[in-house]
Amino acid sequence: MTFTIAIDGPAAAGKGTISKAVAAHFGFGHLDTGLLYRAVAARALDGAEATEAARSLTPEDLGAGNLRSAEVAQQASRVAAIPEVRAALVEFQRAFARKGPGAVLDGRDIGTVICPDAEVKIFVTASDEIRARRRFDELRAGGSSTTYDAVLADVKARDERDMNRADAPLKPAVDAVIVDTSDLSIEAAVSSVIKLIQSRM
Ligand code: C5P
Repeated sequence: MTFTIAIDGPAAAGKGTISKAVAAHFGFGHLDTGLLYRAVAARALDGAEATEAARSLTPEDLGAGNLRSAEVAQQASRVAAIPEVRAALVEFQRAFARKGPGAVLDGRDIGTVICPDAEVKIFVTASDEIRARRRFDELRAGGSSTTYDAVLADVKARDERDMNRADAPLKPAVDAVIVDTSDLSIEAAVSSVIKLIQSRM
């Protein structure tokens, strides 16, 4: 028996932090599926290369440097619109979800496409301004000299592409619980998600 928790949502809504905390709490594995698209983007210059990179992706590729940069993020959302790239990454994600005792996968299409039978589906969101502010603070803390306006524009451009692509667009699954973190501390968001999961176990 495995237990799958799907956590989707737009950029910088808090999915990653919540997913890590939830996985640690329940002793489950955690896969940040955005890293797959980032790793493909980091290895590819065009669509054909991206498909080839997706088909030959290994877990070691997810540990490559610079995958967290804003440039790789934008490029990731471009390769993520290529159906062949998405198709090549499906089995990697589902294999992870099958591992016991349970798994948390976070991304954009986990509840809708990758794990439609997940026991719990959560869609984490927050206002554009709050998400941009959080990402800006993170980048600044990491030594970046970017501006808030540049980060806001980046986040919006990426969400726009993710929501409007034909294949597996970003949207809540019909049976997802929406968690808006705009006015929640990280602790409050994590504990409400943990309570929700416990109520389904
Ligand atoms: O989550 P993260 O910001 O690292 O994702 C980078 C990009 O990868 C997203 O903007 C999106 O285009 C793509 N992605 C996706 N499906 C997922 C996870 C990420 O299309 N499940």
